[in-house]
Amino acid sequence: MHISNIPVIAIDGPSASGKGTVAQRVATALGMHYLDSGALYRLLGLAAQRRGIALEAEDRLAELAGQVDIRFEGADIWLDGAQVGDELRTEEAGSAASKIAALPKVRAALLDKQRDFRRAPGLVADGRDMASVVFPDSVLKIFLTASAEARAERRFKQLKEKGMGANIAALLQDIQARDERDTQRSVAPLQQAQGASLLDTTPLNIEQAVQEVLSRYHALESK
Ligand code: DC
Repeated sequence: MHISNIPVIAIDGPSASGKGTVAQRVATALGMHYLDSGALYRLLGLAAQRRGIALEAEDRLAELAGQVDIRFEGADIWLDGAQVGDELRTEEAGSAASKIAALPKVRAALLDKQRDFRRAPGLVADGRDMASVVFPDSVLKIFLTASAEARAERRFKQLKEKGMGANIAALLQDIQARDERDTQRSVAPLQQAQGASLLDTTPLNIEQAVQEVLSRYHALESK
């Protein structure tokens, strides 16, 4: 199949909106591949910190993006030959990812790595700029969001389930700061792309959100 005929479903949205879980389940339901693009930014941030590279050193970080060996195997993630665990999901890793994600050369260096995930029979990709920059020819573009309060509450529950300590007020503050940085940056800011349809999951549970994406996809197929 020619690459441009491989369908992509782009699911963009702010942090802790549940888009990762929704995208993953949609991919499973459709038998498609899945790209967690945020994990690439998180992994690069982690690799930089391990090497003592400053999170503002744009050229060195872009160079590092070309050097790191990143592998996804189901739910397992490998960085330079070693498996990465929960450290990738901490607020610290998210904040480092958000900082380096504001650098244009870093974003450019990660483009091909992301596009490599487009393989038959299809791809569900989640991030911030899947619909606008990485896969502008996506067949379905969803902007998935929820109120900051709902997202803080979901993240709180998630961390508690993992036995990690959390403070809901601090989480809310963190989410708002990250939203601000992700929306205000000059390159590929977080926004609802042209042609993307809004899915506000504040009143929905995960399963309802998954069903909504699937029904929007099937509506396309029957056209
Ligand atoms: O989705 P996430 O929380 O794992 O993403 C971590 C950070 O990476 C987020 O603050 C913004 C950035 N990011 C991005 O700029 N573009 C993407 N496609 C994915 C993530």
